[in-house]
Amino acid sequence: MTTTKRETCWRVRRLPDGTAAAGIEALGWDAAAAGPEGEIVVRVEAAGFNYKDALCCAGHPGVMRTSPLVPGIDAAGVVALPGGALPAGTPVVVTGNGMGELRDGAFASCVRMPSAAVLPRPAALAADAAMALGTAGLTALLACDRLQAIISPRHARPDEAWLVTGASGGVGMLSVAALAAAGHRVIACSRKAAATDVLRDLGAAEVVAPDAVRDPTPKTLVAGRWAGVVDTVGGPLLADVLRAVRPGGGVAAIGMAGGADLVTSVHPFILRGVTLAGIDAASLPTQAERILLWARLASFWPAIAGRFPVTRLRLEDVGDWADRMRRGETTGRGVVIPE
Ligand SMILES: NC(=O)c1ccc[n+]([C@@H]2O[C@H](COP(=O)([O-])OP(=O)(O)OC[C@H]3O[C@@H](n4cnc5c(N)ncnc54)[C@H](OP(=O)(O)O)[C@@H]3O)[C@@H](O)[C@H]2O)c1
Repeated sequence: MTTTKRETCWRVRRLPDGTAAAGIEALGWDAAAAGPEGEIVVRVEAAGFNYKDALCCAGHPGVMRTSPLVPGIDAAGVVALPGGALPAGTPVVVTGNGMGELRDGAFASCVRMPSAAVLPRPAALAADAAMALGTAGLTALLACDRLQAIISPRHARPDEAWLVTGASGGVGMLSVAALAAAGHRVIACSRKAAATDVLRDLGAAEVVAPDAVRDPTPKTLVAGRWAGVVDTVGGPLLADVLRAVRPGGGVAAIGMAGGADLVTSVHPFILRGVTLAGIDAASLPTQAERILLWARLASFWPAIAGRFPVTRLRLEDVGDWADRMRRGETTGRGVVIPE
């Protein structure tokens, strides 16, 4: 590989007072030189922007496990320096595996990862399309699969309502699209009225505000409404929604954009047989499972490509997008093109 350009990245440094400083810096290592045994250098063509990356940009200790750190848990590009079975030039994707948390991530012109973490990218997925999906797409499929496996067959009827919270976000929108494609009647819950049309285009039967799914009665159970729930918000909204899940229904707990605490009772579980299923897309799926998920995402993408909102970002836009994402102001997916 030849390096004719300056290799750059967006790097975050945690300051002694717990805040963080970030900006564009030189990569600091030679992308054309072999790294440690068994590692591959990937030239990053696109990087997906996840909520975790927004937290990392603010120095959140739960994500930023070391400092300084380049954020970015999703990368797509080509193999620049081979280190395993994939020859130079192979289109690849890398997600999770500690990237952007324990070691430098994808908001950079190059990233170095163990060869076992680097997967061949489906031929049908360009790098920017792969990153429009990224961990959000993997998570949406995992949540749909899990709910379909645990929910009582009595809820197989197409008129049963399935709820998606935080629906204007990356995981939320892709979950709406995936559940609708699987034939479910999807109710999208979003605080953003402006996202209504796109959520309907992606398959939502209805778009409602959080107030419409919350119930002010202080009861541990309220009228059952939801067969299945994909929850990306957590906190009080998740606690409220759990009280309204139908007998034998299930909830996939994915996120904490609205809070990490969960104050609930055992009643939904012991009086309605509700299942609360955790989803961990970053570290739980094996590499073999990820390859299968990516193949499914590649088939799924053409059906939503023209309707799904993707914002292309430069490295210099990372800080601003992260601020907006933490405030819950973004819609769809941001994709960083670190050229
Ligand atoms: N478990 C896993 O494997 C996994 C994988 C990926 C992501 N996640 C988590 O899932 C969550 C969503 O990730 P994402 O990448 O889709 O993020 P995102 O694009 O920022 O979407 C989050 C959405 O949550 C809603 N929201 C934000 N702040 C809120 C608040 N204070 N109160 C209520 N709702 C709020 C907003 O939707 P509306 O405005 O439409 O309501 C926002 O668009 C994050 O917590 C992320 O860490 C988990």
